[in-house]
Amino acid sequence: MARVVLVTGGTRGIGKAISERFKKDGYAVAANYGGNAEAAKACEEELGIKTYKFDVSNYEETAAGLKQIEADLGPIDVVVNNAGITRDAPFHKMTPDQWTQVIDTDLSSAFNVTHPVWTGMRERGFGRVINISSINGQKGQFGQANYSAAKAGLIGFTKALAQEGAKKGITVNVVAPGYIDTDMVRAVPEKVLETIIATIPTGRLGKAEEIASMCAYLASEEAAFINGATMTVNGAQYITG
Ligand code: CAA
Repeated sequence: MARVVLVTGGTRGIGKAISERFKKDGYAVAANYGGNAEAAKACEEELGIKTYKFDVSNYEETAAGLKQIEADLGPIDVVVNNAGITRDAPFHKMTPDQWTQVIDTDLSSAFNVTHPVWTGMRERGFGRVINISSINGQKGQFGQANYSAAKAGLIGFTKALAQEGAKKGITVNVVAPGYIDTDMVRAVPEKVLETIIATIPTGRLGKAEEIASMCAYLASEEAAFINGATMTVNGAQYITG
């Protein structure tokens, strides 16, 4: 039986590349999306996977979505917590709404999605949880107090949960992308983006497929001893110990 993977925010950007890679590797793929039905339909047709609309910042709505996925495809073996938004603003201009939206969607979503499937993973003795953080959760970014806090929070969440799942065959890891060529990064003002690219030693934005291949590896049997780790994929823009 094919393993079942859920990719949140799995119909666009990095998430779509992850969905595509898992499909190619033989998984049954459920791609969640929050609002863009047109992109979801296109993704479904292009990749031949099922898509599911629910708001990962809402626990009850997410639990219902997960139930539907498990009814359609079977128990979820692999979760990729990828869904995320930005609401960039210098802190003195940041509104409480911009703070809450990003924390709820980028950080609390990892609780909302992982918590309902955790008991099943423990019972079956296998699970993979992959949390998509960011270079900006590692180093901080001007204009992203909300996003940097949420993405750093995912790293702490991962380190705690990795210890809890280890005896049950579950691994929990972070992938921390640098600046990847997606709509989210292209939304950064062009002049600002030029200055950012100038600080990437590899001299280019990353490709979504380069994040997807790391996720595929972490989900594999081969990666069973990698647990609680942060896998940095950023073209040497920020190097951590
Ligand atoms: N360091 C220091 N100062 C900076 C700065 C930086 N990195 N970026 C901007 N500034 C300064 C400017 O020089 C300017 O200073 P002065 O007022 O003295 O001239 C000031 O900040 C700009 O202030 P504004 O009030 O005009 O700011 P704004 O309301 O236009 O917003 C911003 C600025 C939204 C932060 C904008 O600079 C921006 O979008 N920056 C990019 C943030 C970023 O990297 N986001 C990543 C998005 S992609 C992503 O998040 C994916 C991922 O995981 C990597």
